[in-house]
Amino acid sequence: MSNVAVVTGAASGMGRACAERFLAEGYSVAALDLTAATIDGALAVTADITDPADVAAAIERTVAELGPLKAVVNAAGVYPPTTLETASTELYRRVFDVNVLGTVLVTQAAAPHLVDGAAVVNFASIDAFVPSPGQLLYCASKAAVVALTRSLALELAPRVRVNALAPGWVDTPGNKATGRMEAALAEVPLGRAATPEEMADLVWFLAGGGGAAYVTGETLTATGGSAFR
Ligand SMILES: NC(=O)c1ccc[n+]([C@@H]2O[C@H](COP(=O)([O-])OP(=O)(O)OC[C@H]3O[C@@H](n4cnc5c(N)ncnc54)[C@H](O)[C@@H]3O)[C@@H](O)[C@H]2O)c1
Repeated sequence: MSNVAVVTGAASGMGRACAERFLAEGYSVAALDLTAATIDGALAVTADITDPADVAAAIERTVAELGPLKAVVNAAGVYPPTTLETASTELYRRVFDVNVLGTVLVTQAAAPHLVDGAAVVNFASIDAFVPSPGQLLYCASKAAVVALTRSLALELAPRVRVNALAPGWVDTPGNKATGRMEAALAEVPLGRAATPEEMADLVWFLAGGGGAAYVTGETLTATGGSAFR
């Protein structure tokens, strides 16, 4: 029986790239998203990660159809712009429900099904450490993901490792839609956005694909040099 990975946000961007990478490594993959993720060879599981009943059903279905879990990748996320002026209770709930609560609910539902030596990889952002202007609530939500990653690493050790990836600018459909990427790239020392596949390489590394067996509770930044300028 092959190893099994659950990847959230798998219909787009880095979630999709991660699902494809785990498939290429011989995993069976549950591609979980709000909308059906059409990825050859993956089990498309439609679920809203902010809804506990939906998440529980999605994980139960995955385990029933594919088997116990070796990896969970929490890639689903939203990044609507917010400032002190535009922030609202509704926007706060949306950003924190998807980015923070969703990560908790998926990991909570998956935990009893994780095999020894399994790994969880969360998506933080460089915005957790170096805020982007106009991303008030998003930055806070991703800082929460960094903190969650450390706490979950403690809770699940020694059986399961939990790490996070904090990308800078990545060329994804969601990011393109913000209209902010082109201007921001002028400030990136490597002179370009990352590809989703480059970020999937790092997720694969953190999940244990090679060399990360003693790494847990960490957040790996990958920003093309923009974080230290
Ligand atoms: N793109 C970037 O430059 C960048 C940089 C740093 C961090 N990130 C983070 O990386 C992750 C992936 O970003 P991306 O740009 O690839 O995303 P994207 O916008 O291209 O895709 C996000 C996916 O998440 C899904 N999703 C949203 N809400 C959901 C919900 N409630 N339940 C299930 N699925 C839901 C969407 O349907 C979509 O398919 C996010 O957590 C994002 O915050 C992105």
